[in-house]
Amino acid sequence: SGIKSLGDLTGKRVLVRSDLNVPLDGSTITDDGRIRASVPTIRQLSEAGARVVVVAHLGRPKGEPDPAYSLAPVAGRLGELLGREVAFAHDTVGASATEVVSGLGDGDVAVLENVRFNAGETSKDDDVRGAFADQLAQLADAFVSDGFGVVHRKQASVYDVALRLPSAMGGLVATEIDVLRRLTVDPERPYVVVLGGSKVSDKLGVIDNLIDKADKILIGGGMVFTFLKAQGHEVGTSLLEEDQLDTCRRYLQEAADREVEIVLPTDIVVDTAFPGGDREPQPVVVPSSEIPADSLGLDIGPESGQRFADELSDARTVFWNGPMGVFEVDAFAGGTKTVAEALTRVEGLSVVGGGDSAAAVRQLGFDESAFGHISTGGGASLEFLEGKELPGIAVLERG
Ligand code: 3PG
Repeated sequence: SGIKSLGDLTGKRVLVRSDLNVPLDGSTITDDGRIRASVPTIRQLSEAGARVVVVAHLGRPKGEPDPAYSLAPVAGRLGELLGREVAFAHDTVGASATEVVSGLGDGDVAVLENVRFNAGETSKDDDVRGAFADQLAQLADAFVSDGFGVVHRKQASVYDVALRLPSAMGGLVATEIDVLRRLTVDPERPYVVVLGGSKVSDKLGVIDNLIDKADKILIGGGMVFTFLKAQGHEVGTSLLEEDQLDTCRRYLQEAADREVEIVLPTDIVVDTAFPGGDREPQPVVVPSSEIPADSLGLDIGPESGQRFADELSDARTVFWNGPMGVFEVDAFAGGTKTVAEALTRVEGLSVVGGGDSAAAVRQLGFDESAFGHISTGGGASLEFLEGKELPGIAVLERG
């Protein structure tokens, strides 16, 4: 189902769905990881003589044009990375798109404006989505699905368009699926999963699916306080999901029954207020069983970081999703740094999954090549690991 299955692409118009959903500060791209990850497939198609039409979304605009979410700066960055001119259409399927696409020569590349400026893209109504997919399909002779970060979305440019054009899986999606499969099917042991981020409720599916596959699950980030509370500790003003306390108790019990170890931090970096504004952070390290009533946890402590690093040192397979603390603020970045560094030393498969942890790794200045794989998918990689069917993959694999 790879690009080769599409045959000779010389002169053919190929619509590529990429995930170019990058963080922006105004019109400045603050992390271009996803754009860089999309380059090899676009270049491959261009070198094959295709007329490449890139379709992608940015953010969550409300189904109509919104200049704050224009892909124009992203198209500019893509051109720099490709080292060639990239044409930009000011709409997705309108007059500008038609004109830009018909002006492409063999090997040329164009980017269409944010596909979510069209209500049809994300509509729950199959017919509405289908009608929009028809319009997208008219712009091309073939479709390549390469936006791994969106394959969990049943949306027109991910799913419906693949029903309308000869379609293939791009190299990025193929690699992502390949690596993530190694985390679920016969992983090399010891297999350690590190979970962080703010909410337990975002990670339930992953814990459910990996609790009988992993040897150890290390937990940090905001989600840890619901676990600590479930163990009977007070957590001060830390983030807490009361409605997940029973679930956390069940996980702790299940882990004990299945001989999977859930490792919780023994110390926590707290402060009396969430960082921000002019206030200088006042980090204090306390035992995780003695979080003061007026304090909130913002990172795992140094002892826990060391313990997590030790657990990772002999792992042969590691999946990490979610920062260990508020890594954007130096005073609370220690845990995330320690875990990231430990991952770079893993002699086996180390996978960083999820938008936040991938961004953390880059923002903290780590060399990406030190990790086995940094997934471009946030929700998509989690849903894959939850064992869910991903519509954007299923549509390509249907017989
Ligand atoms: C992501 O950022 O995870 C993907 O680009 C998907 O974006 P979405 O959650 O807005 O569909």
